[in-house]
Amino acid sequence: MSTIVPVDDYVTFCEGVARLCGLDLSRYKRNQMERRIRTQAERRGFTDLDDYLLQLRRDPQELDRFLDRVTINVSSLWRSPEQWTRIADDLAPRLATAGRIRIWSAGCSIGAEAYTAAAVVRDAVPNVRVEVLGTDIDRRVLDAARAGGPFADTAAQAAPRDALERHFDRSDEGWTANAALRRGVRFEPADLLTSPVRRAAFDLILCRNTVIYFNAADRDAVHARLAQALRPGGYLVIGPTERVADPTAIGLTTDGPFVYRRD
Ligand SMILES: C[S@@+](CC[C@H](N)C(=O)[O-])C[C@H]1O[C@@H](n2cnc3c(N)ncnc32)[C@H](O)[C@@H]1O
Repeated sequence: MSTIVPVDDYVTFCEGVARLCGLDLSRYKRNQMERRIRTQAERRGFTDLDDYLLQLRRDPQELDRFLDRVTINVSSLWRSPEQWTRIADDLAPRLATAGRIRIWSAGCSIGAEAYTAAAVVRDAVPNVRVEVLGTDIDRRVLDAARAGGPFADTAAQAAPRDALERHFDRSDEGWTANAALRRGVRFEPADLLTSPVRRAAFDLILCRNTVIYFNAADRDAVHARLAQALRPGGYLVIGPTERVADPTAIGLTTDGPFVYRRD
């Protein structure tokens, strides 16, 4: 008697997307991701994931729309302002003694976090050289990040007005990072799950609202990789709904809410 193995159309779809554009959806929490994908497919008129995959192969615009939906690029300037207060008042002065602060915005989306980091840390410790690297898996958001905006008013609501006016140029479209702010801020494509990590290369790493979409094993592996990228005494700041599962195991010590220090 043979057993009938049900074909999992979601797994087949993920394999197809990985072949098509290199995005490995199987690394993300299945429930959330599957719901998002099926809703998007239905919205575009496909009840069958095989048909939807065929369409993604045929139509680059449809693929763009799909990637927009699944990679979730929502971001804003001064997002979670209490974390920026902690960075300005506490972490930046502690890191300033080396004369240079190297920051990594890991999963930077459109660059709001990278530019906020540059503005906040430069204001906090003006005589220190501040370099910011933003990385993201999605090359399309990196183009927006390199352009420095414009960030719509809705994406700038949490920003202190005076800092916004000093570091950004105002236009009808919103706020664009000015030339001075953009100096020392650069962006590169990288996959947090697979790209090689620069060991001990950063003083401050921000990885917020990115690994929340990963399954637990991959989330933990990314945190371990980020810990390796910090120099001893450097800090990892994660999003205010996240946690590092076992900080000690990866050489980190908790230093207040959502902040970890490299041992
Ligand atoms: C919600 S945004 C967070 C942006 C910013 N960190 C913030 O908190 O405002 C999540 C970003 O993570 C990126 N991302 C998702 N998977 C990734 C991966 N494997 N490697 C690098 N970036 C990834 C997405 O493309 C998206 O731009």
